[in-house]
Amino acid sequence: DAAPLIDPFARPITYLRVSVTDRCDFRCTYCMSEHMQFLPKADLLTLEELERLSSAFVDLGVRKLRITGGEPLVRRNIMSFFEAMAQRLGSGLDELTLTTNGSQLSRFARPLAECGVRRVNVSLDTLDPDKFAAITRWGRLPQVLDGIRAAQDAGLRVKINAVALKGFNEDELFALLDWCATQGHDLTFIEVMPMGEMGDENRLDQYWALSDLRARLAERLTLTPLAERTGGPARYVRVEETGQKIGFITPLTHNFCESCNRVRVTCTGELFMCLGQEDRADLRSALRASPDDEPVRQAIRAAIARKPKGHDFDYSRGVGGQMTRHMSHTGG
Ligand code: GTP
Ligand code: 5AD
Ligand code: SF4
Repeated sequence: DAAPLIDPFARPITYLRVSVTDRCDFRCTYCMSEHMQFLPKADLLTLEELERLSSAFVDLGVRKLRITGGEPLVRRNIMSFFEAMAQRLGSGLDELTLTTNGSQLSRFARPLAECGVRRVNVSLDTLDPDKFAAITRWGRLPQVLDGIRAAQDAGLRVKINAVALKGFNEDELFALLDWCATQGHDLTFIEVMPMGEMGDENRLDQYWALSDLRARLAERLTLTPLAERTGGPARYVRVEETGQKIGFITPLTHNFCESCNRVRVTCTGELFMCLGQEDRADLRSALRASPDDEPVRQAIRAAIARKPKGHDFDYSRGVGGQMTRHMSHTGG
């Protein structure tokens, strides 16, 4: 049946994030641990299975598909998956896009654009090469800047995602803003979410509320709130002085769960109904049990019927309020 997906809080689910791999060529400190244990390859859905599963969601009314990881572009043969899903653009899908660390964009920007991707979100927290190497552990800034340039040359719109980190990129707020204005990129700031194991890292100490960041911007610039949304969690303002658009993703200071429209599939076929909760549904069994898609659709419906109201990220509870699951597991 073709009834759309509606959750218990009357929210239509129209946005699917698909993590195609848990691997990444970087190790951002707030996203992965230094020595990450990766899943055995046998547990992964094949690209054909990921395609079948994503298509089932499109059949159920999903209109926006964002490919994530790990780093999505390190999955072998990933373009075949993009090409397959691009077939649904205009027949169910409004948007096919990805979130990437940018490391492989020099190679992939053109094929992505050619298959119908219109924009990419690239994670970039700092423009300082040494700080970049420190936060990503394995990343090198020039490679990412080359990738971003390649995306632009291929005609892709670029949105920069910067996680706001106390004592790390506070001093670069205006540098990031100016650079994005000069390059013509949109920019979104994100509040760091309390996820992943606590080693030497403490998300609590890193947390920089975007209400504070925004107040600092407003001291120098005129910010006009915009009504427009991209279907994601960001709220946007326009900087009147430059005309540029800035987004704020504020899971901590301004919860946006009431308008949640999304769920996540991992590379093993787990469906997470909420980023900030542990509950998940296994879709891989239904997928592998039979070539018939109806049981898969039923499993999806059953899971959506228990989508929680929202996360309960909360720094006031201290380190105990932390989720041990790493952000890289669901791709954010
Ligand atoms: P747009 O399509 O450009 O709006 O992208 P997006 O913001 O939906 O996706 P992106 O992958 O760029 O995510 C940016 C940040 O938002 C990441 O840190 C995600 O973890 C976070 N994010 C996305 N969706 C949710 C959500 O439902 N809940 C929470 N708490 N964070 C989210
Ligand atoms: N809190 C907030 N954002 C995070 N990201 C990764 N880990 C975290 C975290 N703990 C961001 C990445 C990327 C996006 C998919 O999620 O920087 O832009
Ligand atoms: Fe939706 Fe959960 Fe994200 Fe809130 S935290 S917006 S309910 S996925």
